[in-house]
Amino acid sequence: TKPKEPELPLFFGWFLLPEEEERIKCATMDFLKTLDTLEAFKEHISEFTGEAEKEVDLEQYFQNPLHLHCTTKFCDYGKAEGAKEYAELQVVKESLAKSDELSVTALIVTPRIFGARVTLTETQMKLWPEGEDKEGVAPALLPSVEALPMGSRAHVTLGCSAGVEAVQTGLDLLEILALQKEGKEGTQVEMDLGTLSYLSEGRWFLTLREPITADTTFSSFSD
Ligand code: A2P
Repeated sequence: TKPKEPELPLFFGWFLLPEEEERIKCATMDFLKTLDTLEAFKEHISEFTGEAEKEVDLEQYFQNPLHLHCTTKFCDYGKAEGAKEYAELQVVKESLAKSDELSVTALIVTPRIFGARVTLTETQMKLWPEGEDKEGVAPALLPSVEALPMGSRAHVTLGCSAGVEAVQTGLDLLEILALQKEGKEGTQVEMDLGTLSYLSEGRWFLTLREPITADTTFSSFSD
């Protein structure tokens, strides 16, 4: 009989340490609390509620994921393309259980998700699978995504609205970055944390004045 292949995880990624998770959740929740009180946000409230006059409590609107992390490779227990090859990379094996510091440079809010954009270092980029940025991207958006620098999709999902899956965060982030590149930014509002821009259809992007760093461990995850 053939020796049993080692099992592949659901995904690989950088996992925030528990105390860091709390710190990031608090800081980002404060942003949500402020966002839904801004006049600029209220003007576009119907993109979240479907009705013009209705209010929204963003803290309630988004459900928190269990463990905050930045996915590098979604393997789906081996069903995803390139999963085995990724797991076998020397750099992946060597990085497992190692500490690393992530840098969050922006926050995004859409009617579907709440997320943090992660700017990867050159070393971290070695763990970013080639072609991963465009996985599951709608054909119409592919040319703009291919024009973005590799690793543009790197993020931490901070919350999803009812019925939305976490995979949406990366897709919404790419869409926002593509719109920014085309110069399609609308209203800009200065906030304590940085500059907030509106990108139509309920998409908000906060460029942080100072990046928020978070200590993590690189690891695999299986449910
Ligand atoms: P993300 O990395 O954007 O947070 P789930 O719990 O839905 O099975 O997903 C587990 C993790 O893998 C989540 O972090 C999720 O999104 C990510 N993920 C799920 N599906 C995909 C996919 N098709 N491509 C890339 N990442 C995915």
